[in-house]
Order: sequence, then C-alpha cells, then structure tokens
Amino acid sequence: MRVAVISTKGGSGKTTCTMHLAQALAAFGTVEVFDMDPQGSATDWAYRAEDSGDPMDFHVRPSNVRELTHISRVQTADHLVIDTPPGLPDVILASARAADAVIIPTEHSGLDMAQVWKLLEALPDVPYGVLISKSNPRTISYREAVTELQDHDVPLFATDVRRSERVKDSFARRLRPDRLFGYDAVLEELARALGVGLAPTGSEEPR
Ligand SMILES: Nc1ncnc2c1ncn2[C@@H]1O[C@H](COP(=O)(O)OP(=O)(O)OP(=O)(O)O)[C@@H](O)[C@H]1O
Ligand SMILES: [Mg+2]
Repeated sequence: MRVAVISTKGGSGKTTCTMHLAQALAAFGTVEVFDMDPQGSATDWAYRAEDSGDPMDFHVRPSNVRELTHISRVQTADHLVIDTPPGLPDVILASARAADAVIIPTEHSGLDMAQVWKLLEALPDVPYGVLISKSNPRTISYREAVTELQDHDVPLFATDVRRSERVKDSFARRLRPDRLFGYDAVLEELARALGVGLAPTGSEEPR
C-alpha cells in the first residue's frame, strides 16, 4: 500500500499520522517513509529514536518530487507512507498522484476545515479520506465539521484520533504496535475501502 498524508495547513497532524500509520503497516510487511518536508520532522523523529537506542521499526528518509515520478522503481519496501509539508502545492499534489490513497488529517475548527475544502478542490483523482486528527467530540466545532463533511458526501474516517498529550509525547520515540491511538483502526478502514487484504507478516497469505 502507498499512502500520502497531505494537508495545506501547518500542524494538522501529518507527521504524527505518517509515523503511526507506518507503525500500523509494519505488522503487514516492510515499510518505508518518504519525508517530503524540508523541515524534516519525520526524519528527525526517526534519528532521535535511533539516538535514544530504540530505533523505529521502519526506515525514514528524505525524498523529492523527481523520485515520486519514478515511484515503482524507487520504493523498496512493501508499503510506503509519504509525509508532506504544509503549503507547498506542487509537492502535495505530486505526493497524492504517486499514492494509492490519500489521508487528509485536520483539526475540526472552522479555520482548519476551510483549508480542507480548498484542498479538496485541487485534489487529483485519487481515493482519499479526511481524518479528524486532534478531536474533541464534545465541541460544537467537531459536530459541525462532521455534519458538513457528511452532508457533502466527503469520505470521512469513522475513526478519529483524540487530542491527547500521550499522542504528543510519542514524538521522537519508537512506537508500540499496541498503542497507536486509533491509527491502526484508520489503516483497517483504509484497507477495507481500497479492497486491499493486509496479511500479517509470517502468515501464508500473499501480501
Ligand atoms: N492527537 C493529538 N493530540 C495532541 N497533539 C497532537 C495530536 N496529533 C498531533 N499532535 C501534535 O500537534 C503538533 C503538530 O503535529 P504534526 O507535527 O504531526 O503536524 P504536521 O501537520 O506534520 O505539522 P507541519 O505542517 O509543521 O509538518 C505536534 O506537536 C504534535 O505532537
Ligand atoms: Mg509535519
């Protein structure tokens, strides 16, 4: 599976989504992360985990638009997750085009949702889903965002990731497969929607 995590808004949870999704995918084969963001947050995360003596279960490396246009030659692992920068449309669109599916993480405030609508207008023809990445379901803005997306038939993950300090604290650490804050359920939803059968590593089933 090849997934791009995109949003034009800074700080929407792209890198956090990328790393947790990559960890969830690691149960189903080898995984690599391409870091398209010049800030290098995903790469930094992986190096810091390595420096602490507890490296990630997958490889993270910087990539570029040129590589994405030759993606099938460049990808070496079974699964690829592409982390993208905010506000760089060329990179975001090239990443979306290279992927089987796109995840758009967003907060649920009106300001954040406005950016999502703008991005949806520019999105190439690729399966996508909006993911509420720092949710507080008790708020009015949460209910408004969900209703608006549903009213417009925008694919929305049934799973949302709660706003939590524990998610924040996961930065720079190796992630545990049993502590993915809902990103494992996001992967299940994605695989179901795409009709992709994910077989656990070591089983007889083909990947
Ligand atoms: N569910 C969550 N609950 C609380 N904090 C979160 C959650 N998800 C992400 N964060 C925090 O929000 C901040 C932004 O997250 P992240 O770096 O993943 O966003 P980003 O979209 O990759 O940002 P950028 O646009 O700068 O690349 C980080 O401090 C991260 O730890
Ligand atoms: Mg980021």
